[in-house]
Order: sequence, then C-alpha cells, then structure tokens
Amino acid sequence: MNVAVMGLQWGDEGKGKAIDYLARDFDVVVRYQGGHNAGHTIYHKGKMLALHLLPSGVCTPGTRSVITHGVVINPLALLAEMDDMSAQGIPIEDFFISADAPVILPEHQRLDDVFEEARYEKIGTTRRGIGPAYEDVAGRRAIFLGDLLDKDQLTAKLVPLNRFFNQLLSIYGGEPVSIDSYLDEYLQAGERLRSFICDTVPLLHQYNESGESILFEGAQGVLLDLRFGTYPFVTSSVPTVGGLFAGTGLSHKNLDKVVGVTKAYTTRVGGGPFPTELSGPLSEELRSLGNEYGATTGRPRRVGWLDLVALKYAVDINGVDELFLTKIDVLGQFETIPVLTDYRLPDGKVNRHFCADARRLSRVEGIYQELPGWNCQLEKMRKAEELPAQVLEYIRFIEDYVKVKVGCLSVGPTREQTIIMP
Ligand code: IMP
Repeated sequence: MNVAVMGLQWGDEGKGKAIDYLARDFDVVVRYQGGHNAGHTIYHKGKMLALHLLPSGVCTPGTRSVITHGVVINPLALLAEMDDMSAQGIPIEDFFISADAPVILPEHQRLDDVFEEARYEKIGTTRRGIGPAYEDVAGRRAIFLGDLLDKDQLTAKLVPLNRFFNQLLSIYGGEPVSIDSYLDEYLQAGERLRSFICDTVPLLHQYNESGESILFEGAQGVLLDLRFGTYPFVTSSVPTVGGLFAGTGLSHKNLDKVVGVTKAYTTRVGGGPFPTELSGPLSEELRSLGNEYGATTGRPRRVGWLDLVALKYAVDINGVDELFLTKIDVLGQFETIPVLTDYRLPDGKVNRHFCADARRLSRVEGIYQELPGWNCQLEKMRKAEELPAQVLEYIRFIEDYVKVKVGCLSVGPTREQTIIMP
C-alpha cells in the first residue's frame, strides 16, 4: 500500500506529526518536492525535532528514507541536519538521495533576498534560495547533486552560471558571489554525501515491485502550489498530487491513497490573501493557544478560522481519500467556532468556488456558520467515544462539506495523542 500525505492549506498543517504517526506502518518514506523551506515538527522520545529536508521517517527505526530529484538541496543544510540528528541519537542510515536533485547555491540565496526586496508586494519567502533554484531547473541550467562529485564538471558548469548570477545580482543591487567562497565546501559536502547518492527512480520502482510500502511526504500545501495556490504568494514547487509523480518517477498506478492534512483552523506564514484571517486580541489568543510560530523561520503565523471553500478545493485537486485533522485541541476554549462556508464576491454574488488569483481572493468576504464549542480539553482523550458531541458535530460538518471522512484526529503533538476515527 503506497500512501501520500499532503498539506491542504498554506503549509504547517501538522504533516510531520501525521507522517511520524503513520510511518510505523511503512517500509519507505519519500520526500519529493520543496526544500529546506519546509519545517516538519515531530516529538521523538520527549524531544521536539524540526526536520527541514530529511524525511520524517528517519526517526522510525527500520524505515528507509529517500529524497528524490524533485527536492532542491542545500547540501550544507542537509549535512547540518544529518549531524544534528546523529548528535541526538538518531543515526542517518538507510538513506538515499537523488544524484539529480537540483543544488541550492549561495547565489540562489542572495537572489532570493534581492528579488524579495525589489517586490512591490512581498511574498515573504523563507529566503533559502528555493525559488531561484527551481527557476534554474526550468531555465535548463541547474547544478545537480551528482555534479558535486566531479570537480571538473562542477567548475565547468558553475563558471558561466556564476557570471549570469552576478549580472543579475548587479541589476538588483546585490553583492556578487565568488565561486571560490564556497566551491571547496560544496565539493567536500558532495564527498560526505557520496555514499547516499544514487538514482532514486529505479530504486523506488524496485521497492514498489518488491511489495514494499511507501509513504510519500508532501511539503508545504495546496494553497502554496505554484499554479493552484494563491499566486504569486506561493512557493516554486508543486505540493499538489501531480508533484508527486513528477518528483518521483512513479505513476498514478503506484499510489493507493491520499491522506490530506488540515488543521481544525487555518494559518499562513508570509504575504497573500487569507479570507478567514483574524486580527486583534482573538488572533493573539489563537496564535498563542496553537503556538503558531514558524518551524523554519520562527515568524509568527497569521491565524484564522477554517475555510471550507478552500479546503474543498484542496481536497478535489489532490483527490484526497481521507483527512487527518490536526490541532482540534487548540479550539477547546471557544464558546462558538465560526467556519467559513461561502464567499461573497464584490458584486454581491455568493459562491463556493475558491479563486487562486490573489487579487480576486483578497476581495471576497467570508460567510460563516457558527458551530458550538466544546469548552473542554481534548489532549488526554485517546478514543473517539471519549470525544464530546460538539467535537463530533464539528468533524461531521467538515466531512459533509468536503465529502471526505476524517480518518485520524490529532489532539496534541505526540504520536499517542492521535485518535483513529471510526
Ligand atoms: P519560499 O518557498 O521560501 O519561496 O516561500 C514562498 C512562500 O511559501 C512564503 O509565503 C513562505 O512563507 C511559504 N512557505 C514555504 N515553505 C513553507 C512551509 O513549509 N510552511 C509554511 N509556509 C511555507
């Protein structure tokens, strides 16, 4: 059984927790898009770990971890994360990374900075060079991880590329980058990674054909997808289900189930429209109850109520089979909980169509249904029968709207705080 776990909102839905919980039943966990802009938080032996590049299965003994060609790699960040895990008693073994994964260079990071500074409306990128690295893939000039294993080949590719980057940087008023400032470090990183580097396309087909179960770990979320997200306030990869096939070389025939992860409310980091966003003391209350600060950048997350129009769109685009609903415990103190069910457009018309165009989405007004709160703590509950009727009503309302069942409910950050729903 091969299962994909994907974010249905603007990232930070709790995919790390969901994957860590589900990984026990899988032989292989695969990251296939995004880069170290992701921040997947998991609790391991009482400690909070934030993974950015390594698949969340690394903490599950006996599970193999694969990073495919769809992921952009900063080799120094990857090695730092591997060292950090080893120092915490989590050795990185049974790990494979694609020779064809595009490399994030120091120039990409600097370009991310200057592009962002020059924008009229800031995207609020993580400034890790993700966008410029994916631009190089589309521009057919990318450096791949395998290039780091051959100094002559790397230098031959880097010299013209660096000239191009430095011209771009000068247009945007950025400092030039010298290849000498990082070449040796990148070559050494290549050597350290050599034993993990391979062609992950045949590897995954081999696993699949020998009946091993694969869990695909999506990063970011549908609403940050390059084309289906709230463009231009999006990331540069494809976090929707198509990105899985493009990023692994497996086909739709090799995917049995899509689990969509959504919070019981909504958060967003960075700029862009957010129809259910809260402001003032209520937003501060929800942010503090949910501890909504970015795992990668530490930025306070914008917070708001659940947007069912957006969730239905995300479910439909990804072909979601089952929901993993997270952080429902955070809503324990509210008398009533508003849920957005419709958009009112500037011309007064009401509909249930999500519009990915940022400008149009910023003009919609939310129409809400107030659902009763449950006024109690859910953190210690472990079975569906223990849940208050209002929680079941909240879940039922979501299921009826998006036409997909909630399979798992998360009532806290640890693996144990997960309820399998009947
Ligand atoms: P980039 O991916 O660094 O280019 O950032 C583009 C947008 O995606 C920004 O709004 C980021 O805050 C957002 N973003 C990227 N990765 C994540 C993530 O893992 N969680 C939440 N937001 C993210």
